[in-house]
Amino acid sequence: MGAVVVGSLTLEEKAALVCGSGFWSTVAIPHAGIESIVISDGPHGLRVQPEGGDHLGLGESVPATCFPPAAGIASSWNTDLIERVGIALGEECRAQGVAVLLGPGVNIKRSPLCGRNFEYFSEDPFLSGRLGAAWVRGIQSQGVGASLKHFAANNQETDRMTVSAEVDERTLRELYFPAFEHVVTTEQPATVMCSYNRINGTFAAEDPWLLTAVLREEWGFAGAVVSDWGAVDDRVASLSAGTDLEMPGPQHGNATAIADAVASGALDVEKLDAAVDRVVALSARGNASLPAADLDAHHDLAREAAIESTVLLRNESGVLPLAPGQRIAVLGEFARSPRFQGAGSSQVSPTRVDTALDSLADRADVTFLDDPARAADFDVALLFVGLPEGDESEGFDRTHIDLPADQLALVAAVTAVQPRTVVILTNGGVVSLEPWHDSAAAIVEGWLLGQAGGSAIAAVLLGDVSPSGRLAETIPFRLQDTPAFLNFPGDGSTVRYGEGVFVGYRYYETIGRDVRYPFGFGLSYTEFAYEEFAVTADAATVTVTNTGDRAGAEVVQVYVGGPAGRPVRTLAGFTKVFLEAGESARVTVPLPRRVFEHWDGGWDVEPGDRAVVLGRSAHEIIAASSVALESTRPIAELTFESAVSDWLDHPVTGPVFRTLARRQGTPTEGGASVLDMVGSMPMRRLLRFPGVDIAPRQLLVLLAVANNRVVRGIARVLQR
Ligand code: BGC
Repeated sequence: MGAVVVGSLTLEEKAALVCGSGFWSTVAIPHAGIESIVISDGPHGLRVQPEGGDHLGLGESVPATCFPPAAGIASSWNTDLIERVGIALGEECRAQGVAVLLGPGVNIKRSPLCGRNFEYFSEDPFLSGRLGAAWVRGIQSQGVGASLKHFAANNQETDRMTVSAEVDERTLRELYFPAFEHVVTTEQPATVMCSYNRINGTFAAEDPWLLTAVLREEWGFAGAVVSDWGAVDDRVASLSAGTDLEMPGPQHGNATAIADAVASGALDVEKLDAAVDRVVALSARGNASLPAADLDAHHDLAREAAIESTVLLRNESGVLPLAPGQRIAVLGEFARSPRFQGAGSSQVSPTRVDTALDSLADRADVTFLDDPARAADFDVALLFVGLPEGDESEGFDRTHIDLPADQLALVAAVTAVQPRTVVILTNGGVVSLEPWHDSAAAIVEGWLLGQAGGSAIAAVLLGDVSPSGRLAETIPFRLQDTPAFLNFPGDGSTVRYGEGVFVGYRYYETIGRDVRYPFGFGLSYTEFAYEEFAVTADAATVTVTNTGDRAGAEVVQVYVGGPAGRPVRTLAGFTKVFLEAGESARVTVPLPRRVFEHWDGGWDVEPGDRAVVLGRSAHEIIAASSVALESTRPIAELTFESAVSDWLDHPVTGPVFRTLARRQGTPTEGGASVLDMVGSMPMRRLLRFPGVDIAPRQLLVLLAVANNRVVRGIARVLQR
């Protein structure tokens, strides 16, 4: 169909089509049957703006269900739940005539300071990829397109429109790309949104390696690349690199610049036609409206999601769940004026908002206190603190991870008089729990929980359900402990990713740094026991039993160890399992091949034994096993320029070479072979060394055998 449509369009029409039409729609060309479609933020609810529009969350939008933002829902570790949220989002899109929802964001939380961490899932690419894929699967099952964003290396807000992320390819491939790669290869999102920033000097929107070589040619992305709003600097360069649709549009002169570039031969018309084809395919999704979505059911789903996203961090003396009949003091403004989402382009006008105070008051004997000195008069105090809206947002980064001074003072005042204080936290980015951590009897990390967060928190506190959230992000002791501390947010024009792949728990576990709560951590009101952990290269299997006296859910987490020089532990698989009291389940966690691979100019497996462990978190390992791996990489041809170590590692030359060297009495020092000590030297240079008595002739024979020349020579003779 594409070729027919493209053939019927003038150059000017084609150029117009790859530039947007206003803030939230694409260009229509009626004579060619091309509709204008509506695109909307996203990700955790719709932000449809009927009047005009903006991308900063300033203008009014139509009420829509506000589900927990990514930072919250990531803690559910529940892909089925997230897929159902995606379906609900898709239904609301269709009811509003929206063809593409701008999300999810799967950027890695490189630093806790990133102002937009509330919109991202995790510090871990495996978890981000699985959760992002579930989100996209749900949305797209409703015929609505998703927009995977922000590709790539958009890990800070400071200078986000211009900063160059200086990051090596291995780090991109192993840490910043995998979530995108997984979602693209498994779900084919309708669009991928390229980021504002530059990567190693080149704007993402103008980077042919990023958008064409990697995204399209390697990963097989078939949808349209959309620019982030205003990310295009040079429209012709961006089109040539692979940015199919510029948004918003039309920007002054850009369509003309494209037409002129084609006319002058500066831009290959095939590139324009390919982009037009993709925009036409996107437009063909249409805006078909369905009857209104069931907003009551969506509110209930938002509550279910919020409950599963709540992480119980600390629970001394069984203060939680709250016992019936207790007199409960409630303090902190968030209890009655909840903050449940972040600020900026993702800000949703909720259909309604539950408050924890009202939800608790419906069920228990609660009194809201303005005065902390009075908390002592109650059986237990529930203290709601966190980050106010102005402290974190799209557009700027935080400069510290502490709670505001007035909140810290409130915690100190309440805990000084009430030993049974439960601190309930509201925050998009991670906050420090110092210096007050030990003074709280219980700590509930509520992140940002969406419009039903208040009733969800009440359900968890009152014990309607056992909390089952697990941290998708490490809680460090201090900002100074975090891996990007010395490099974030750069010098204004560049930011160096000096920590490489050692981000989040990959860093803490590898260097042995203590953290307050590790990635993957979360308590429950019940307990789980594990038995019979068995591992193959394809899967880990274990029996999980709920040994407590109430129903609950456990997240089975499997990590693999890295070869030398790589993180000692990376998440390789997870499954959330719901168990009644006393119930057992045999759980299988698939281990994709990629979790054993590393990037070395291509994906490779380091041969040998690799640890596969079961963790209650990235830190607490409760069972360990290993698998034997073989390299999948074809053995490189040896030459005289190859390093001595390559000759020693080669399956043919290695044993021969060592025997030869031993026979000729190559000296050793302190047990280490001299050959090993000169491992990085090219063979050609070693042969020149005094005392090395290996005839090049012998090596030539070895080379021929090692590189299969003999076999290939015989094959050639036979073919004649
Ligand atoms: C944000 C995107 C958003 C877009 C449209 C940009 O500023 O980075 O995430 O989808 O605006 O509002």
